Amino acid sequence: MAIGIQTAAYLFASILFILSLGSLSSQESAKRGVFYGIIGMAIAILATVLGEGVAGQVYIIIAIAIASVIGLLLARKVEMTSMPQLVAILHSFVGLAAVLVGFGSYLDPKTQLTIEIDPVNGLTHAEHMIHLVEVFIGIFIGAITFTGSIIAWGKLEGKVRSKALMYPGRHAVNIVLLIACIVLGVLFAQQEGNGGLLYLGIMTAIACFIGVMLVMAIGGGDMPVVVSMLNSYSGWAASAAGFMLGNDLLIVTGALVGSSGAILSIHMCHAMNRSFFSVILGGFGTPAAKGEAKAMEGEVTSLNHEEVAALLKEAKSVVIVPGYGMAVAKAQYPIFKMVQVLRKAGKNVRFAIHPVAGRLPGHMNVLLAEANVPYDIVLEMDEINDDMPNTDVVMVIGANDVVNPSAQDDPASSIYGMPVIEAWKAEKVIIMKRSMSAGYSGEDNPLFYKPNSEMLYGDAKDSVEKILGFLKA
Ligand code: TAP
Repeated sequence: MAIGIQTAAYLFASILFILSLGSLSSQESAKRGVFYGIIGMAIAILATVLGEGVAGQVYIIIAIAIASVIGLLLARKVEMTSMPQLVAILHSFVGLAAVLVGFGSYLDPKTQLTIEIDPVNGLTHAEHMIHLVEVFIGIFIGAITFTGSIIAWGKLEGKVRSKALMYPGRHAVNIVLLIACIVLGVLFAQQEGNGGLLYLGIMTAIACFIGVMLVMAIGGGDMPVVVSMLNSYSGWAASAAGFMLGNDLLIVTGALVGSSGAILSIHMCHAMNRSFFSVILGGFGTPAAKGEAKAMEGEVTSLNHEEVAALLKEAKSVVIVPGYGMAVAKAQYPIFKMVQVLRKAGKNVRFAIHPVAGRLPGHMNVLLAEANVPYDIVLEMDEINDDMPNTDVVMVIGANDVVNPSAQDDPASSIYGMPVIEAWKAEKVIIMKRSMSAGYSGEDNPLFYKPNSEMLYGDAKDSVEKILGFLKA
């Protein structure tokens, strides 16, 4: 493929990626955004594989075909509730790819200082130095992304404890490791030929360790920001790989992913009342929890499905707060049927969505859209919190952390400071879950003990179907 055609294809693909990101910002256009992304990526891959100077196309196409089949089979098997883990593990692949590209590019004879041997096409001192810096930074970001994403996957999958790992002097250790990497970088840049390989290897091991410690230090409640932050890191890692390979499209695409991930992280931090810099630096500057956690006060009471249906029949205004448990139970379909019955009976029924409910940004919105819930009754936390005192019944369906009052009144809680849905301000709160277990953050929930709260134990889908039966009776 001629270089001009390739450049035009890259430009077109870049435009499609920008349109894709723009469309993903609203539910109505999200599907179109995914479509733009697929077309853009197909064009990008074709233009790269068929570009000048690429040899062994047949092998590349066979590898792409095999990988596509594996990807397709795995993606079809992945449950909606496991999507966050899939995203986290895919970020780790990008990080690993950047590390491998970095080592490959460093060892490539074409990237050596060759101006003396080939005065016309050889690399000059300045070009060679720029390349070494690209390699070093690319591998550094890639290694952090690689191990950080694996730990994020472990935390989301429940294989690694979700509570923050805090040890005395950890910030000092991180700073020392960072300084060690800078020193290694200076030594690396001074070596001739492949002489810097050892320094590069040591830095990679340190960066892998930093990635692990950075994510281990983040508590379960703050994991949403970590996922979007690793998304951003994976973009910068891809961009760095683009510099090493001299591929403009990879630089642009990586920068788009990196900056959109960073913007998402800032939004998340804003929504959760967290400092962006503290989170991206592994909880740097986070004040330690103050004192002992408050003891739970009050008594837990529960009711049955028929009693919940009776409460709903009486109510004029109902707010549903869905959470991760709704996703696990796939309860969105019967919930929407219940909403239709209630709305037919003239009740004002709305959904209250917390920005970090579930395990992915927009998780609840996607599930409700899947069940055809109209967008106009799906409200953000900020839009509905003021209405809570005028609400007759709040149904908390498989949610926990996002309705935990400790976030407002217990400085010892790891989620202290995070804005939450103030369900307790309603006349009656019904909490539908299987047990008294804590939420993802590991914090107990005093909401369950409030005098106006009632538990309805059981799987969310099963419970909603039973309530629906009583509502129709
Ligand atoms: P969680 O705090 O995780 O609580 C979900 C509750 O659902 C659990 O307490 C569980 O209690 C219940 N549950 C599970 N399966 C159920 C089922 N089949 N039927 C009924 N209930 C079921 O959820 P949340 O309130 O949505 O909060 C989200 C948490 O995840 C926050 O801490 C957030 O920071 C974190 N997080 C979010 C994201 C994003 S981007 N959204 C990413 C990573 C982490 P039982 O076991 O007793 O049933």
